[in-house]
Amino acid sequence: MSGIKKILLGLLVILIMIQFIHPARNKSGQGMPNDISKMVAMPGDVRGILKKACYDCHSNNTDYPWYTYIQPMHWFMNYHIQSGKEELNFNEFGAYTPRRQQSKLRSIENSLKDGSMPLSSYTLIHRNAILSEAEKSLIINWVQTSKDSFKKESLTNP
Ligand code: HEC
Repeated sequence: MSGIKKILLGLLVILIMIQFIHPARNKSGQGMPNDISKMVAMPGDVRGILKKACYDCHSNNTDYPWYTYIQPMHWFMNYHIQSGKEELNFNEFGAYTPRRQQSKLRSIENSLKDGSMPLSSYTLIHRNAILSEAEKSLIINWVQTSKDSFKKESLTNP
């Protein structure tokens, strides 16, 4: 067997072997006492947009698409979920300090304005997570009105 064939065969074997590795999935199934919707009014359309475009990486529950059942796609997705959740978790928003909440609301607004979120590697496959201008403004307006409710909330709940 030539060298190149051996290498290809080796890669194929590795590719097949990693299919048997199943890292834990991001599915909590738990109640969510600190969910952002418990702190501030969240209209259905706002929730729908955040769910389809952001929650896969910024919540405790990911809707795993079929391709993440194939390695190494699952690892890539998990990596994004892990670092995404560290930065911002809508299900844990109520546990943040008031200062962190305000700064996260600001970055949500900025990320929509500059188009950095959702990640482009994600919208490449999740076409429905590409937000229209109308959807973006809906979220931005909601963030702006929510900022004040969070401030009031933090005065009563320091
Ligand atoms: C495919 C996963 C994924 C999706 C979907 C996604 N994000 Fe992110 N997000 C990340 C990752 C990873 C980070 C941290 C690294 C970075 O900033 O690139 C992040 C960081 C952020 C931050 C930065 C937090 C900070 O304090 O700097 C904000 C805000 C944010 N995302 C908002 C959103 C919003 C709003 C949506 C939906 C419109 C969204 N993201 C969709 C993965 C994702």
